[in-house]
Amino acid sequence: MLALLALLPLACVSAVSASPVSRSLLHARQHQPGPWCDGLGAGVFDIAPNVTLAALNSTLPNANSTGAPLVMGQAGAVDGASFKILSTWASFPFNDFPTMSLNNGSLIPNAAIGVVSAADNNVTEASAPSWILTTFDLPASVQIYCGVADTDPAGGGTGFPLLAVHGDTDHFSLCSAGDFTNAQTNIIWRASAVNDGSYNFTSCYPVHIQIIEMD
Ligand SMILES: *[C@@H]1O[C@H](CO)[C@@H](O)[C@H](O)[C@H]1NC(C)=O
Ligand SMILES: *[C@@H]1O[C@H](CO)[C@@H](O)[C@H](O)[C@H]1NC(C)=O
Ligand SMILES: *[C@@H]1O[C@H](CO)[C@@H](O)[C@H](O)[C@H]1NC(C)=O
Ligand SMILES: *[C@@H]1O[C@H](CO)[C@@H](O)[C@H](O)[C@H]1NC(C)=O
Ligand SMILES: *[C@@H]1O[C@H](CO)[C@@H](O)[C@H](O)[C@H]1NC(C)=O
Ligand SMILES: *[C@@H]1O[C@H](CO)[C@@H](O)[C@H](O)[C@H]1NC(C)=O
Repeated sequence: MLALLALLPLACVSAVSASPVSRSLLHARQHQPGPWCDGLGAGVFDIAPNVTLAALNSTLPNANSTGAPLVMGQAGAVDGASFKILSTWASFPFNDFPTMSLNNGSLIPNAAIGVVSAADNNVTEASAPSWILTTFDLPASVQIYCGVADTDPAGGGTGFPLLAVHGDTDHFSLCSAGDFTNAQTNIIWRASAVNDGSYNFTSCYPVHIQIIEMD
C-alpha cells in the first residue's frame, strides 16, 4: 500500500498529457494545499487556473462522463453589486465568465476580457455556493474550496478531479428554482426541505462537481 502510494505521483508525471488527473497532481506537488483541503486524502490541490465546472449525476444516469456544464448564473443584484450562483448552462444559456480559477482555496470567476472584481462567499448548509461581483468595497474572498484528483483509476471515477467545499465533495445537488419561466437549475450544497425558498427541494438530485481543466 505504502509503496503503491509512493509510486503514484511518479506514474502520473510520466503521463502528463494523457490524463485529466495529472495536471492537478502537478499543482498539488508544487504547492502545499491549505487546511480547506484537510481530510480529503491524496491528490488534493487548491490552485487551478482557468478551469470550468460540470455536474455529473451521482445516482441518476449520465449522458457522458464530463457532465452538464455549469456557468455563473444570475442570483439578483443590488445597487452597485450583483450576485452569482452556479447554474447549468442548459438552464441559464449565457456564459459571461468562461472560466474560473481556484486560487489558494478561493474560487473566482474569470471574464472573457479584463479582470472581474469578484469574491466567493462562505457556503452554508442548504444554500447555493455564491459570489459577489462589485467594484465597491469588495469583501475578502473566503478560502473553502479544494480540488480532489481521481487517484484511483479503478475506483469508478471519471478521471476528472472533483470540487469540494468545506472538505465535502459528496453533498452537492442540482435543484430547480421553481416552476416558472426561465427557472434556473442551480447547485445547492446540502440541499434540504428546510431552505430559504430559493429552490424546490423535491426537484433536487445529487451530483458531483467535476473540475474540467483547460489546456
Ligand atoms: C487564463 O486565461 C486567460 C484568458 O482566458 C489568459 O489570459 C491567462 O493567461 C490564463 N491563465 C493561465 C494561468 O493559463
Ligand atoms: C442527470 O440527470 C438529470 C435528471 O434525470 C438529467 O436531466 C441530466 O441530463 C443528467 N445529467 C447528465 C450529465 O446526463
Ligand atoms: C454531457 O451531457 C450533458 C447532459 O446531457 C450535456 O449538457 C453536455 O453537453 C454533454 N457534454 C458533452 C461533452 O457531450
Ligand atoms: C494561501 O493562503 C494562506 C492563508 O490565507 C496564506 O497564508 C498563504 O500565504 C497563501 N499562499 C499563497 C501561495 O497565496
Ligand atoms: C462558513 O460556513 C460553514 C458551514 O456552514 C461554517 O461552519 C463556518 O463557521 C462559516 N464561516 C464563517 C466565517 O462564517
Ligand atoms: C417541485 O419539483 C417537483 C419534482 O420535479 C415537481 O413535481 C413540482 O411540481 C415542483 N413544485 C414547484 C412548486 O415548482
